[in-house]
Amino acid sequence: MRIEFRTGKHTDVTCDLMAVPVFEEEVKDAAALRELDRASRGVLKAALASGEFKTELHRTCLVHRPAGFKAGRLLLIGGGKRSDFVLARLREVAGAAVRAGRSAACGSVALLARGGHPLGEAARVCAEGALYGNYEPDDYKTRDWESREVDEFVFVSEGEARSREIQQGILRGIVIGNATNLARNLVNEPANILTPTRFAERALELGAEAGLEVQIIEQEEMEKLGMNTLLAVSRGSEQPPKLIVLRIKDQERKAGKGVPLYALVGKGVTFDSGGISIKPAEKMEEMKADMAGGAAVLGTMIALGQLRPHNRVIGLIPAVENLPSGRATKPGDVVKSFLGKTVEITNTDAEGRLIMADVLAYARSQGATHLVDIATLTGACVIALGWHNAGVMGTNQSMIDRLRKYCSVTGERLWQLPLDDEYRKILRSEIADIKNVGHRYGGAITAAKFLQEFVEDTPWVHIDIAGVDMDHEGRPFAAKGGTGFGVRTLVQLFVAPFRE
Ligand code: BES
Ligand code: ZN
Ligand code: ZN
Repeated sequence: MRIEFRTGKHTDVTCDLMAVPVFEEEVKDAAALRELDRASRGVLKAALASGEFKTELHRTCLVHRPAGFKAGRLLLIGGGKRSDFVLARLREVAGAAVRAGRSAACGSVALLARGGHPLGEAARVCAEGALYGNYEPDDYKTRDWESREVDEFVFVSEGEARSREIQQGILRGIVIGNATNLARNLVNEPANILTPTRFAERALELGAEAGLEVQIIEQEEMEKLGMNTLLAVSRGSEQPPKLIVLRIKDQERKAGKGVPLYALVGKGVTFDSGGISIKPAEKMEEMKADMAGGAAVLGTMIALGQLRPHNRVIGLIPAVENLPSGRATKPGDVVKSFLGKTVEITNTDAEGRLIMADVLAYARSQGATHLVDIATLTGACVIALGWHNAGVMGTNQSMIDRLRKYCSVTGERLWQLPLDDEYRKILRSEIADIKNVGHRYGGAITAAKFLQEFVEDTPWVHIDIAGVDMDHEGRPFAAKGGTGFGVRTLVQLFVAPFRE
């Protein structure tokens, strides 16, 4: 999709569909509506009066051949309360406009930027939302489905012509939007296609294009390094494990004493059957998405490779398949981790924490001073928070606060859960230093406590995305399936300069 901008009157933009957001407050204030209504030659007021159009967020009303418009169609789109119209909502409205365009067979869609945000940021989130809305997981459909792709999106600003700001915003939005869709597409890939090997190959291809150095650590090297909790998970599978390491080119020049190095670690289980502790058949197909944390890290690093962050950042993705077989790890097996601590694996379905433990410890051995991990780690997190918030825990409170604040811009909600010492006791093993599973209660927290054993004193944030990696319902601005959750939040963490 091409993304462009125009400044000037929205009625003069030539396109197939012109989307105009309308806010709840405006309906009650005749003066506020007057200008928009006049531009539409009374269509807006008529649509409101008839009850066909309401200003509720994402509601739409499509008008063909609107008088006074160069556009073929006018799409009125509800913006909700103007006072709640944060950048995250504007992104959704851009996505909803593009999806409405898709289903109305429109090749070009324009959006009138309203809401009073700084134009550069508005253009950025609109570009992100437009790309997000245009995405459809249809690679494996052999016939045309209901809608066609939108070829062109135009950001329209009637205010000051701040072209440089808008252009820069659009370029950033394209980078972040494409990186998010890349993560979504990886999550949607079936597990017979996206094996650990293919995941590593994709990282090599895409990383090279984006200015990253990509290293793959193979099984033999893992064995030498003693990554036995990681290897315990992949044992049952015919697919060899891969540890994908992503670095940003030329960034090492910034290295030196006291310069922080941030490591992003993403869980990359390309299929989680549970292993010998096998899962029930129902919904097991969803476990192809158990690499969503890894996809978020790859998407983030690909965006950062192009956006050149101020901080030093590396990405690590342990990619494995968790299957039962005659070679598979059995409940009760004991292994020695990369860090040296021994682990009794009482449940092979708690595999995410096993691969993450070794890689978090490995990241520290590579000089990481700050750790952020993102993983579809626990069903318990879905029970606690449902589908609309990821869980966040950790020992770096200032970073947690910062991540949570980004939500009004990114639209990715995070809710903090506690990490008190008492939860650690549940993981005491009779025969090893720790076991990988306690009881059901507080399962998202005990999983994080397990990881904490391997990050020790390094400042660390853990994001459990088990409930938010996939959209099960579909939204007006998004197709069902992978959400790419984490890409926007993690990119945001590094594009705004900061010091810890
Ligand atoms: N990948 C799952 C967690 C998950 C569940 C992600 C639902 C997305 C949706 C994880 O590996 C797992 O199986 N966790 C177990 C842990 C249990 C055995 C302690 C769980 O949550 O049931
Ligand atoms: Zn599992
Ligand atoms: Zn899993």
